[in-house]
Amino acid sequence: MRLILLGPPGAGKGTQAARISDKYGIPHISTGDIFREILKRDDELARKVRKYVESGDLVPDEIVVEIVRERIHRPDCQRGFILDGFPRTKPQARALDEILEADGTPLTAALYLQVTEETVVMRLSRRRVCENCQAVYHLDFNPPKVPGVCDRCGGKLVQREDDREEVVRRRLRVYREQTEPLLEYYRQRGVLKEVDGNKPIEDVWREIQEILDPLAERGDC
Ligand code: AP5
Repeated sequence: MRLILLGPPGAGKGTQAARISDKYGIPHISTGDIFREILKRDDELARKVRKYVESGDLVPDEIVVEIVRERIHRPDCQRGFILDGFPRTKPQARALDEILEADGTPLTAALYLQVTEETVVMRLSRRRVCENCQAVYHLDFNPPKVPGVCDRCGGKLVQREDDREEVVRRRLRVYREQTEPLLEYYRQRGVLKEVDGNKPIEDVWREIQEILDPLAERGDC
């Protein structure tokens, strides 16, 4: 299955993408995680993308598209992938279409996690991430077993730089202006599947499986 996950910051894309990856055996490709890894380095690319990521702006399309093109052509993507956080602009969506068309591998579905702004603020202000493996937690809704420690790898849990209130506001504005128009783009192509992302994690997961199980059984992989 070749999937994309759409939704505003904090909609739960990373949380649900990790489950989709485990259950359907396709790699979870998060452009946000890729950029956060790049920022740990001290090279030309890190210097280029830092100002965008830390202020909540989008990294220029040409940089993101090349990273995604290289990533989805690796051998582990032969059975498909789940893209989390890409595409985010119309040029990125068109570039993805061109890549998939050239490969003869059409997009299976675009899952849209719909959430209210109130939900976003509540989730991002209490989110914690593992600085080592990037696993995602929430202090109230999805807490780690031991406070401050990642269940998966024992790494330290930290707050993301871009989860500060003023940056969240900017990310939401950027989402509304540049990414929301993609909903119509994928609706017109008949691949948009809407999910109510305001519900608890398990309920959202159940709804996603109801959409994906039939696609997996039909062999849309
Ligand atoms: P990115 O990392 O992609 O950030 P985002 O899209 O803003 O999404 P988030 O990671 O904030 O939220 P999420 O939807 O994954 O929610 P999560 O599962 O963590 O991008 C960061 C930056 O990188 C961008 O600003 C940009 O600069 C750059 N970038 C990335 N991609 C780019 C692109 N394509 N083009 C240009 N630039 C790009 O959940 C949030 C919290 O809620 C967690 O604490 C979680 O535990 C909790 N939670 C999740 N689901 C539920 C639920 N159902 N109920 C209760 N709590 C829940």
